[in-house]
Amino acid sequence: MNILLVGSGGREHALAWKIAQSPLLTRLVCAPGNPGMAVLGEVRPVAATDVAGLVALAREIAADLVVIGPETAVEAGLADALAEAAIPCFGPTAAAGRLESSKAFTKAFCDRHHLPTAGYGVFEAATPAKAFLDRFQPPYVIKADGLAAGKGVVIAESRDAAEAAIDDMLGGAFGAAGARVVIEEFLTGEIASQFALCDGETVMLFGGGQDHKRAFDGDQGPNTGGMGVYAPAPVLTPAAVENARTRLIEPAMAAIAAEGAPYRGVLFTEMMIDHDDPSLVEFNARFGDPECQVLMLRLESDLVPYLMAVATGGLAAMAQPVWRDEAAICVVLAADGYPAAPKTGTVIKGAEAEFGEGVVVFHAGTKRGVDGALLAAGGRVLNVCARGRDFAEARARAYAAIAAIDWPEGFHRTDIGWRALGR
Ligand code: AMP
Ligand code: GLY
Repeated sequence: MNILLVGSGGREHALAWKIAQSPLLTRLVCAPGNPGMAVLGEVRPVAATDVAGLVALAREIAADLVVIGPETAVEAGLADALAEAAIPCFGPTAAAGRLESSKAFTKAFCDRHHLPTAGYGVFEAATPAKAFLDRFQPPYVIKADGLAAGKGVVIAESRDAAEAAIDDMLGGAFGAAGARVVIEEFLTGEIASQFALCDGETVMLFGGGQDHKRAFDGDQGPNTGGMGVYAPAPVLTPAAVENARTRLIEPAMAAIAAEGAPYRGVLFTEMMIDHDDPSLVEFNARFGDPECQVLMLRLESDLVPYLMAVATGGLAAMAQPVWRDEAAICVVLAADGYPAAPKTGTVIKGAEAEFGEGVVVFHAGTKRGVDGALLAAGGRVLNVCARGRDFAEARARAYAAIAAIDWPEGFHRTDIGWRALGR
C-alpha cells in the first residue's frame, strides 16, 4: 500500500513509526513531515492545510490511503476534498470535525443529544460574558471557541483574572478562534482521554491515557498542548470506560451521523471522571499529541488495517486491537519560553542516538540545519517515550534518555506519571 501521512509533529512521527512496521506498506510519504519522519519515509514540503496540494500529492503517489494527523487539516476540509477525489481517507470531514473546531457547536450538540458536560454560556461581547460569571464561584473556566493548539483555555482563580481572560480572548489574543468565548461550570474529578475509531457507523475503543496540560511540575503554570502523558491511566477503570462508551462516545457518533455528517477517523474524548462518572471536557477530531505517541508504543496489532477499515467502512469486521501489557510514558522536551514565546533555532545534540530497550524519541518541532545539525523549530520539540514492565521502569528509562540529550535551551517536567506512581 502507498500511504500519505499528513502532519509534522510528534503525533505524526509516532504514526509514521508504527505504519513503517506494517508488512502491508509499500511506500510512505509524509507531508510536510519532519527530520525524524524523513528516516522512515519520504518527506514532501506540502503544508497540512494545503488541501489542493495534498490531493495532488496523493494522486501523484497513487495513495491507497491518506492519514490525517492534525486538526488544522481536518478543519481545512482535506477529507472532503479526498472524498471528491475518491481517495480513502482516515480523518473526518470538516462538518464532522466541528466536534473539535467549534466548542460552541459541541456544547449545543451535547444539549441536543443529552451528552453529559459542564453547564455553559457562549458570548461574543464582554459585558454579558462578565455578567454570566455571577452564576459561578471561582475557579472560572473561560475558553476560546475555535482552534488554539490547546492554549485557548484559562482556569481563572479570581473574578478579575476571569474578566481579563474574557477581554483578552474577545480582544483578539487568539485571533478568529477567540471571536466567541465559552464560559463553563468548573468540573471536579480527574481528567483522562479515551480514543475511539469510527468508520461512520461502527465504534471501536482504541486506548486511552492521561495528559499533563500545565507547563511546569506539580501542575503549575500555563496550559499547554500537553507536556507529557502516560498509559494506561488508572482512572480509566473498566466502569469509567464503559460509561464513556455508552453515555458519550457511541451516542455522539450516532448523533453526528444522524445530523448528516458521519464521522470517519479517531475521536478523542477528553473527560472529567468523578467516581467512574465521565463528563465531557472536549472532543477532538484526531489523535492526541502526545497521547498518540504512547498509544503507538503500546499497540501490538498492525495499525494499518485499522486505519484502512476506518477509511473504507470495514471496522465491524475487525478484531479488537491488542495492546502490550506494559506501561508507557512520554515526556515532552519543550523550548524555553513555551507556550508563550518558545525560543527556536537552538542546537540539540544526542537526540538521534540509540537509547536502548523500549525507548523511542519522536520529533515534534525540529528541523535540520544547513550543516546537518538538529535544531529546535517549535514549542514542543522532542517526545521522549518509553515502555516498561511498570510505570517506575518506563519513567526511569525515559528520564535516563533525557539526561543523555544535550539541549540547554529546553525544559521538561520531571513528574510525568506521578498519579500512576502514587497508586
Ligand atoms: P481543554 O483544552 O478543553 O482540554 O482544557 C484544558 C484543561 O483545562 C483541561 O485538561 C482541564 O484540566 C481544564 N478544564 C477544561 N474545562 C474544564 C472544566 N469545565 N472544569 C474543570 N477543568 C476544566
Ligand atoms: N494532548 C492534548 C491534545 O492533543 O489536545
